Amino acid sequence: MNTLPEKDFTNPRAQHGFVGRTCSIVSVGSYVPEKIVTNADLERLVDTSDEWITSRTGIRERRVAAADEFTSDLGAKAASRALEKVGISGEQVQLIIVATITPDMTFPSTAALIQQKIGAVNAAAFDIEAACSGFIYALEIGQQFIMSRTYETVLVIGAEKLSSIINWKDRNTCVLFGDGAGAAVLQYRPGSHGLLTACMGADGSKADLLNMPGGGSRCPATVDSVNAGLHFLRMEGKETFKNAINAMNAAAHEALARCNLDIAQIKCVIPHQANRRIIDAVGERLGVRQDQVFVNLDRYGNTSAASVAIALDEAVDQGIIQRGDLVLLLVFGAGLTWGAAVIEW
Ligand code: UT7
Repeated sequence: MNTLPEKDFTNPRAQHGFVGRTCSIVSVGSYVPEKIVTNADLERLVDTSDEWITSRTGIRERRVAAADEFTSDLGAKAASRALEKVGISGEQVQLIIVATITPDMTFPSTAALIQQKIGAVNAAAFDIEAACSGFIYALEIGQQFIMSRTYETVLVIGAEKLSSIINWKDRNTCVLFGDGAGAAVLQYRPGSHGLLTACMGADGSKADLLNMPGGGSRCPATVDSVNAGLHFLRMEGKETFKNAINAMNAAAHEALARCNLDIAQIKCVIPHQANRRIIDAVGERLGVRQDQVFVNLDRYGNTSAASVAIALDEAVDQGIIQRGDLVLLLVFGAGLTWGAAVIEW
């Protein structure tokens, strides 16, 4: 039987009288498909230029999954890498939560398909949908099961095959997105922390800014819906841009305040990788140096729910984040949704 953590004093939940266990991220892993699509490749598809894409977004290239490679394949590979790093077998996983807007199919869940692919025969599995904010939403949900002692090992995955819902004739969107997956293994580790806090938010009144109208119960697939392009992602870029900056900035302040932390104490900020100009604006408002902010969108574009998960794995892999460092994750996406998490790595 696990005992209560001794070192609970910085846990904001403990300050509010919560007596559950802390939740550590014991490992992370990621996977991106092999195929690279450069800005020059897109110049051959739509009326765009490397100069426009680079200067307006910071994106230089993105990964695109093969025709026979699905979101569950990307997620399973990221999950296997995370599990292998800490020597945890698939059988030990008790819960799989997958954040995605591009499930293999509407049902069953992509989490169930990943369960089978990684041999997690003892795990419960479900998907959550909070668009690009999904990874922090899933981390927060996963954490609840660790803190409440329901499960010992939870696998959280952000995985997307966005290339499957992109209109490759629409220059407003096709240059922005890419495919990939990231995963985190959650456990209770006595004397260590992990997630100090995670805050989540949503504003459904702005659902029209970024969505995919077709395929759901409101607009099932018909010849007409397909011909009208309703099964592609659509976005009002400018409005989404403004909302992203405001929401991530506010979420960051809320998360830091909850932990009684100053931004100067944060070693690394990992924002959702949607647009370099959004990242820079948020960083400026928060008062962080550019070298405190992790950026990899030049290589992957916007991978939605996988975005901060892949970035976290790369930042750890590159030694930018060391055990004990404080890390701030920031996300924003359709819904609208947003979130921030403070991690003691
Ligand atoms: O992850 C979910 C959250 N998503 C985001 O946070 C994305 C938020 N939005 C953005 O990142 C930016 O709004 C975009 C990158 C999508 C667009 O940048 P923008 O500076 O807001 O450009 P715009 O939409 O105002 O378009 C400016 C011009 C337009 O031409 P006109 O009307 O001025 O003649 C567009 O048609 O740029 C044109 N344009 C392009 N030109 C070349 C739009 N896309 C392209 C393109 N190549 N790919």
